[in-house]
Amino acid sequence: MRMPENKGSELIKDNSGNTTKHENSAVITSALPYANGEIHLGHIASTYLPADIFTRFLRLDGTKAFHICATDDFGTPILIRAEKEKKTPSEYVDFWNRRDYEDFKSLGISFDFFSKTSSRENIEFVQYVFKKLYENGHIYEQNVIQFFCTFDNKFLPDRYVVGKCPYCGAENQYSDLCEKCGRVPEKILDPKCAICGREPIKQESKHYFFRLSAFSDRLKRWLSENQNLQPDVKNYVINWINEGLQDWDITRDLSWGVPVPMPDAAEKVFYGWFDNHLCYISSLVKFIEDRGGDGKRFWNQSRVYHFIGKDIVYHHYLFLPAMRMGINEEFKLPDYIPTRGHLMLQNQKISKSRNWYIGLMEFTSTFNPDYLRFYIASITSYTQTDLNFDWDSFYERINNELIANIGNFVNRALSFTHKAFTGRVPEPAGSAELTADDRASIQEIEKAPQEVGLLLSQNELDKALKRILQFTTHFNQYFQKKEPWSNKTTANTTLYIAVNAVRTTAIMLEPFLPFSSEKVWSQLGLSGSVHEQQWNSACELRVPAGHALGKVEPIFRKIERAEIEKQKAKLGKRE
Ligand code: MF3
Ligand code: ZN
Repeated sequence: MRMPENKGSELIKDNSGNTTKHENSAVITSALPYANGEIHLGHIASTYLPADIFTRFLRLDGTKAFHICATDDFGTPILIRAEKEKKTPSEYVDFWNRRDYEDFKSLGISFDFFSKTSSRENIEFVQYVFKKLYENGHIYEQNVIQFFCTFDNKFLPDRYVVGKCPYCGAENQYSDLCEKCGRVPEKILDPKCAICGREPIKQESKHYFFRLSAFSDRLKRWLSENQNLQPDVKNYVINWINEGLQDWDITRDLSWGVPVPMPDAAEKVFYGWFDNHLCYISSLVKFIEDRGGDGKRFWNQSRVYHFIGKDIVYHHYLFLPAMRMGINEEFKLPDYIPTRGHLMLQNQKISKSRNWYIGLMEFTSTFNPDYLRFYIASITSYTQTDLNFDWDSFYERINNELIANIGNFVNRALSFTHKAFTGRVPEPAGSAELTADDRASIQEIEKAPQEVGLLLSQNELDKALKRILQFTTHFNQYFQKKEPWSNKTTANTTLYIAVNAVRTTAIMLEPFLPFSSEKVWSQLGLSGSVHEQQWNSACELRVPAGHALGKVEPIFRKIERAEIEKQKAKLGKRE
């Protein structure tokens, strides 16, 4: 379990020692990665990077925003892998919990708390929620005929069985998620044991069920009334409800999971999708309470965002809200569920088994992590549309946009100030002498952060980044037109405005490029860190005449063609 330094902690108590109201607070969660492998580019694009950019923006904008995540530790694939590696499941998930956290850190994903679903606080919370649901009449027991493999001598829940999806007919699907149509096919056709491939037999076992079907109307009302959910997702979820929801088998005959707190359920644990999303709440509560706050109150007074990829819509738009309704919304439902499409790699589906993927750590140890953030942010839309990672377009975006546009402007403005004014920001002309271009540029500084901020608050990350590029394009042109190297009498005004525009750029870029924007900040010679600034201050000309810049050097290094070819050749060939 990790707890990176957190600048928000002091905000939880006010000076009098009372907990404050949190009207302007937000809880941002990213879908929990399974603790069974390294983080790859697919994870990043749909969930973690958008959530991180968004959270960083909220922090700059004065919101007490906490980004919460954890590893998803339970479930059959993890048990199978741990057994194969001759580790206990808990040793196995501890390893991946630490490794995943390091992977994320290498990309500057700034979690306030990174926990795990097998933590004590989560286990206790899951059992508490179950008991509440039980008391409220939302749980019943039923004998189910379960797949059992006589060869492996095991009950075969979920991923232990593959077969045909009864809804869409897709072959080779797991019984807990059809990857083709996104539904949960409780009654899979043509079942086969995933370990040995033999046909399993059926055996009876008592399970606990959650009355999901009883929530159909409430879910439909909530979906229709909530204006913050993406309309396209909402519509197909409402269709699923109209087709009829099945009650949900929430227990499994396994040894690895949250124990079912019932007298006759010694051998049973909860299904991973019953407990994992509760970890959003249990982690936030622990995080706040460790800092002396009231966790439940904080949750309920904050805007709540769950960032996910479109493969887990069913779970987040149906299971999760129904369970919270079932405990009388003691913890409020999400306000937003930002849902994004999958990442393709060179136009092919990412697949670890076919080696068609790029590990995050591998990427960040080869290229500047901000290059990946820039590229992904520039192609991610706030929709279900799939994205495509393409090495050639990566090369072009980085060299032609990030470096030739943004990097060029920043470096030109700062290094020319060094050359012509010994690194001190010159005194501008009085306002009567400003030209139309000077005025337009000052206006652009006043206007751009507001427009970018609005787009970011609406989760339109690619559009926000585009608007920043318009800003630096404007200033490249301004510089080019004013030619401060030959116009000695106006160079002072040009540079004064340009250096201020660099400061504005640094603040606007912080959510997207946290590493590079800190570098720009220190080259500007400004005190503190860029991530401590106020977003609105980016609209002002805060760098005064006479201010001394720091040491200036190029922020970025161009990517060579050969580096790209090398990466392309590596794809699909990894051990
Ligand atoms: N581990 C799940 C997956 O990768 C996601 C869990 S998100 C949770 O599909 F919120 F529900 F925990
Ligand atoms: Zn299907």
